[in-house]
Amino acid sequence: MNKIFNFDANKLVEKYGTPLYVYNKETIIDNYQKLKSSFQKYYPKTDVHYAVKANTNLAILKILEEEGASVDCSSPFELLTSEKAGFTSEKIMYTGNYESISDLEAAVKSKATINLDDISSLKRLLSFHLPERISFRINPGIGRGGFEGIVTGGTDAKFGVPYEDASKAYKLAQINGIKRFGIHMMTGSNNLEPYYFAEIVDKLLTIAGKVFEQLGTQPEYVDIGGGFGIPYHDEEIPLNLELTAQLVSEEFREKCKKYNLGSPRLKIEPGRYIAANAGYLLSKVTGTKSSYKKFVGIDSGMNTLLRPALYGASHQHFILGKDTATEPVNLCGRICENSDIFAKHIYLPEAELGDIVITKDAGAYGYAMASNYNGRLRPAEVLIDQGRDKLIRKRETLKNLFNLYPEDL
Ligand code: LLP
Repeated sequence: MNKIFNFDANKLVEKYGTPLYVYNKETIIDNYQKLKSSFQKYYPKTDVHYAVKANTNLAILKILEEEGASVDCSSPFELLTSEKAGFTSEKIMYTGNYESISDLEAAVKSKATINLDDISSLKRLLSFHLPERISFRINPGIGRGGFEGIVTGGTDAKFGVPYEDASKAYKLAQINGIKRFGIHMMTGSNNLEPYYFAEIVDKLLTIAGKVFEQLGTQPEYVDIGGGFGIPYHDEEIPLNLELTAQLVSEEFREKCKKYNLGSPRLKIEPGRYIAANAGYLLSKVTGTKSSYKKFVGIDSGMNTLLRPALYGASHQHFILGKDTATEPVNLCGRICENSDIFAKHIYLPEAELGDIVITKDAGAYGYAMASNYNGRLRPAEVLIDQGRDKLIRKRETLKNLFNLYPEDL
């Protein structure tokens, strides 16, 4: 492998150093447009809210704003970045979790649509503000994800209002003077099975049927969350988006009719599907070792891309300019944790000091989850736009880290 997004990866490394995240504008646009057109084909009143948490880079948000997307934010910083990118308030959704009063104040200030995680969140919101419209994130009692750590629905999930309490939550909101409503769920991430999405739509709309009958009104929107998966390995079958959109829309229309829910807007909140395959991580080999096993150490690690250490997630890795895999190695970072391993027992070409390792599908939940553990600096980010490279986030410096200490220390 020599090129990423038709770009000479060596040139990027010479110019910007490693570790380096590299994103491609065209891929982000294609992914967004594919999602939007698939869903709008079957249900024209669909809004695509990009889940900012997947990749919060301002340049990426600007691309999506230009394309006409909406956003879902999970913190004041994500709200501010979205505003800076040009998103107007009607395109911004705020979905928090254990939202503090200051989180909610930030959402109110940005005039975002607030999607509440719990009845207790409503009480905190009402303590200083009466919104015109809200939704609750409902836990429909089931969830599914690519692995356990990314299941966000069901009885083990810390998110949302249990569906048994949904009517109570909405009634309380109505009694307090809120007049306009939506309903939301987010049950898990990296799902590749179209029928699952139809199944959860059925669940949520059945719950919505009871809630809105009791309220004597209809929802303005039904937000089914994100969770649209991508194949990280060749043997995985990509999500059939067309079928997903068709099944979801059919279920949506049928259940809206059955439960007298009118024709609400359908909202989806994709993060991974838009950003993941639009990003590569470039790292440099810093040491190789033949111990009980063979190790290839690189200048990225769990501090740069946490997914493998946190969930056992696995990405594809290549060595720039070398194609013939020789023997199995463990690819690892420099962090003092034995979980700092990107991949175990993978066949790579013979790695030498200074070789560049390319990690695929790192555009979502990569930089966004990077840290300074072991005092390591967060990487730089570059965007490829029509054959041109542009720095979109500077590499962190030691000065950045020391800046946080008070002067009198
Ligand atoms: N909406 C809400 C409220 C969410 O919490 C999430 C993700 C999304 C949308 C977007 O989900 P997506 O379309 O990307 O599946 N760090 C994990 C993924 C955690 C997802 C958390 N919530 C990973 O690296 O796989």
